[in-house]
Amino acid sequence: MNGIFDSHAHYDDERFDADRDELLQRIHREGVEYIMTIGSDLASSRAACRLAERYDFIWFAAGIHPEQAGDAPADYREALKELAAHPKCRAIGEIGLDYYWAENPPRERQQVLFREQILLAKELGLPVIIHDREAHADTLEVLRELRPAGVLHCFSGSAEMAGEVAALGMYIGFTGAITFKNARKAPQAAAAVPDDLLLIETDCPYMAPEPYRGKRCDSSMLPHVAERLAEIRGGSAEEIVQMTCRNARRLFGVG
Ligand code: NI
Repeated sequence: MNGIFDSHAHYDDERFDADRDELLQRIHREGVEYIMTIGSDLASSRAACRLAERYDFIWFAAGIHPEQAGDAPADYREALKELAAHPKCRAIGEIGLDYYWAENPPRERQQVLFREQILLAKELGLPVIIHDREAHADTLEVLRELRPAGVLHCFSGSAEMAGEVAALGMYIGFTGAITFKNARKAPQAAAAVPDDLLLIETDCPYMAPEPYRGKRCDSSMLPHVAERLAEIRGGSAEEIVQMTCRNARRLFGVG
């Protein structure tokens, strides 16, 4: 399938170290036309930048993931600003709230970095890429208050929440998790997203769709996500790929 835009990938991850270049060249030949690769701390944001410099079909986002919020240096915003000045940096991310792990940085610390990075993105005129795990109410509260442009990635909320996020004008991204046999809320949420706010993503190397669940994920698996979304929403997988590609290009100002 051609014209695929993977709106959320982590190609700096060490699980790609052995074959990264070979893999990226192959999946690009096979129809992955655009990739947004996402940083999770300063080092990985810089690695994402280097990948975007190396490949004309890769763009990147720079940000501090909530799980890394405890390690961010005091001057992290200056470092992000420098990265954001790069012509291929098209978003601040990933940022957000993650209440799943008890040993994560304290919620207050996560919330400070989440808010600071949204304000930075607004100052720079960039969209944000948001991670929300087990933190729906607090995430929505911050979004309602600060009104950033951007995407809620790997969406795990209800159909009602999808409607609220869409009403704020934000995009909503679905990963391979939508193909899992035990996915209940996600199909309902996916049905509730307006056509012009829907994105597909891998979150690779994680979240490989069925029938690859548990394996290392890469962007060439996205047609399986598109097929599942087509079953839920109607239309064809090709139409989902085209629609989500248009949406991601609009959001990230690509192409
Ligand atoms: Ni991610």
